[in-house]
Amino acid sequence: MTKINNFIDGQWVSPGSGEYAESCNPALASDVITNYPLSGKEDVDRAVAAAARAYPAWRGMPAPRRGEILFRAGELLLRHKQELGKIVTREMGKVLAEGLGDIQEAIDMAFYMAGEGRRMVGETVPSELGDKDAKSIRVPHGVFALITPWNFPVAIPAWKIFTALICGNTAVFKPSSDSPFCATRLVEILEEAGLPPGVLNLVMGSGEDVGEYLALHPQVAGVSFTGSCSVGENLERRVAELHRPIAVEMGGKNAILIMDDANLELALHGVLWGGFGTTGQRCTAASRIIVHNKVYDKFLGMLVPAAKGLRLGDGLKKETDVGPLVNERGMKKVLEYIQIGQEEGAMLNCGGRRAVDGALAKGYFVEPTIFSGVLPEMRIAQEEIFGPVIALMRCTSYEEGISIVNRTRFGLSGAIYTGCADLAARAETDIETGLVYINASTIGAEIQLPFGGFKHSGSGHPEAGGRMGALDFFSRIKVIYRDFSGRLQKAQIDVSPE
Ligand code: UN1
Repeated sequence: MTKINNFIDGQWVSPGSGEYAESCNPALASDVITNYPLSGKEDVDRAVAAAARAYPAWRGMPAPRRGEILFRAGELLLRHKQELGKIVTREMGKVLAEGLGDIQEAIDMAFYMAGEGRRMVGETVPSELGDKDAKSIRVPHGVFALITPWNFPVAIPAWKIFTALICGNTAVFKPSSDSPFCATRLVEILEEAGLPPGVLNLVMGSGEDVGEYLALHPQVAGVSFTGSCSVGENLERRVAELHRPIAVEMGGKNAILIMDDANLELALHGVLWGGFGTTGQRCTAASRIIVHNKVYDKFLGMLVPAAKGLRLGDGLKKETDVGPLVNERGMKKVLEYIQIGQEEGAMLNCGGRRAVDGALAKGYFVEPTIFSGVLPEMRIAQEEIFGPVIALMRCTSYEEGISIVNRTRFGLSGAIYTGCADLAARAETDIETGLVYINASTIGAEIQLPFGGFKHSGSGHPEAGGRMGALDFFSRIKVIYRDFSGRLQKAQIDVSPE
């Protein structure tokens, strides 16, 4: 049986507890992928200490040199893309095309952040005084705690790790217990790319024993977390007391608004992709579909047979459209919400059950499920289900549709399908989400722009790229005034004579 280990100070080491747990294939629960360490406080202490020791030299390395290491990591990810994509599919279940997409997103991020090493842009502005200059530069924070989910088991760690490192921070990475093997392969690639010991450390284990202790560790300077709302909001509160920056990316209850003038065929593909892609397990998944009354019945008539036609199965098989839920707990949660939807009086149009035909019984499969006649206040329209469940709602106007889109505590992603250019432009403003899609589904953000949500979806520190993306969070701005006049000059005092 294979076993993986923590990576601390450039060494692969077993956890202090000596204990391991199994990481299994959600499409075939008996398929054990590896045994991963159940680490504890002592492992976190060692990893943070290693990261703190590595920090001065890493910070001192010119950012373009740091970028070269990330560039090599990008090349290695590209070289191993097929192998890594299959590991993603086997460990967390998404279909292979998406497993490969996960790796591609990490490749994109590596090359983007490698280039950022040669920009790292600050400002140079004129001083109001002579013989004086004024500029701002980016400096790192120190040791970062990076806590990541399983649904993008390589891409999301890559967003955080590459950005933290290019800015000159060192890091301790705590991946989800549902994707430890993916995390290990990513760290191996960074090791092979030439990352110096201690710059990136990997500690696996539970959120309680490792994640929380890491985020609150005295030597940690900043925290970046992607995961559930309950964990994220708790961390946000507790980390704030320590006066250190924390970025949290949490849930979504993302809506697609389909107007009466929309291309319904296009909208159908967007709904299927956004609702059932990654088995509905994206923070950006489309879980609420609001359809204009005039086309509601027609659209429902198109959607239900299309959803019924989706083939469930092992994501490694070519013919599979929808893979399993990540684990038994995830599957049970989805089935509970399906029960709740029925009790709330929504109409179950298709799906609604665990799929147990043949080999499906050996994994955690739930049929793609559609509820119609859903009311905006129902729990299935308000709470994140994180599974293949879509709630269809009616609206009679654009205004009503937008008000339903926005009637949620979340604000990650939103979309509109319409043939009207004016309405599309209005929706850009009216949809209260960090990501807005016009005539496209709620998923598929690209890494060269920031990724983040409004309201309870995030803390307002977006991830990924763009001038205002994660770089602003993983670096601090230091302002430098240099006076070379050789005399005392007083800003705001030595003003020009009236
Ligand atoms: C997530 O939804 O959990 O935008 C992350 C997308 C991907 C990342 C999604 N690039 O769909």
